[in-house]
Amino acid sequence: MPPTSALSFFSSFAAVVLLKFLPVLLCVIPGKPVNDPLYQEFPKPIFSEVIQLLHKLYIFVSAHFLVPFDRRYLSIHVMASCPKEDIPNMKELLQEQNFYLTTEEGEQGRLPVLVLSMKETDKKKRPAIVFLHSTNKCKEWLRPLLQAYASRGYIAVAIDSRYHGERATNTTTYRDALISSWKKGDTMPFIYDTVWDLIKLADYLTEREDIDSSRIGITGESLGGMHAWFAAFANTRYAVVVPTIGVQDPYLNIRQREDKGRVTDIPIGDLVMRLQGFQWAIEHDQWQARVDSIKAVFEEARSDLGKNEIDKEVVQKVWHLNLIHHTQYRSLHHALC
Ligand SMILES: *[C@@H]1O[C@H](CO)[C@@H](O)[C@H](O)[C@H]1NC(C)=O
Repeated sequence: MPPTSALSFFSSFAAVVLLKFLPVLLCVIPGKPVNDPLYQEFPKPIFSEVIQLLHKLYIFVSAHFLVPFDRRYLSIHVMASCPKEDIPNMKELLQEQNFYLTTEEGEQGRLPVLVLSMKETDKKKRPAIVFLHSTNKCKEWLRPLLQAYASRGYIAVAIDSRYHGERATNTTTYRDALISSWKKGDTMPFIYDTVWDLIKLADYLTEREDIDSSRIGITGESLGGMHAWFAAFANTRYAVVVPTIGVQDPYLNIRQREDKGRVTDIPIGDLVMRLQGFQWAIEHDQWQARVDSIKAVFEEARSDLGKNEIDKEVVQKVWHLNLIHHTQYRSLHHALC
């Protein structure tokens, strides 16, 4: 993208943000570790290396021997521990902070933050990494990854995105917020409200004594990948961004190309468009995977629009009216997607 587009993106974002979010004083309110975090999915995700191995085996067997399987098993997400630096007394050296940052008025304006880092005796500033969770998960899900980064000398930071984790009260909070946003258009639970939180988080991180403010990176998985990408675009204090997110037609086209032995032929630009291009997805009828991840709001829209099934028009209306309903957001989205 040419620099002028980035600049105009930034100024439209700033304009919208200034209109929507009233400035509040950035306060740090102490919190406590969350022992039983709220996941808004069933079955509840689990941490286990053994189960992760069985899970891989199961997918392998089903894929190669065409064993019929219940797709629900595939939705049990597992997070095993991640490679850490070999530090014998890791447990004692690891320190944890839990707190809230005020990012706007109201209940959702309290941003829950979890920070893991190694206790250091020297006062050297360290690089920081912000890691963002996927749909229906929460910051605690990322603990193994935060520990891995901390063991390598980073200050590792995770947050609950809007209507997730500590910002949710039950297993339908995020879903309800998306539907309410479709109906009323007064919130942007999908992406932008969290992006605002991430801008305020950058304010906080750059002020921290132990962080080298020129080395703050941001990454995330799936929905978190989108948050990371938008946040880094909107705020240059995130010096590096590495979103981890699936393409919109995960199997079909790649499989077809594989059959023809041309899997490496997919132009990188094409992949990038599939990654983030909401408009691309609609034009190429490849929106199903992303729609499935937050189906309820599309069902609601389908019913409100008097249709029998979710089609392109429903999808487009939800993206534009509900999740990016501001005119400025729309132009900003065109610049991006
Ligand atoms: C979740 O909480 C909301 C708001 O408190 C409430 O309206 C809704 O009925 C609850 N849903 C469930 C499944 O408990």
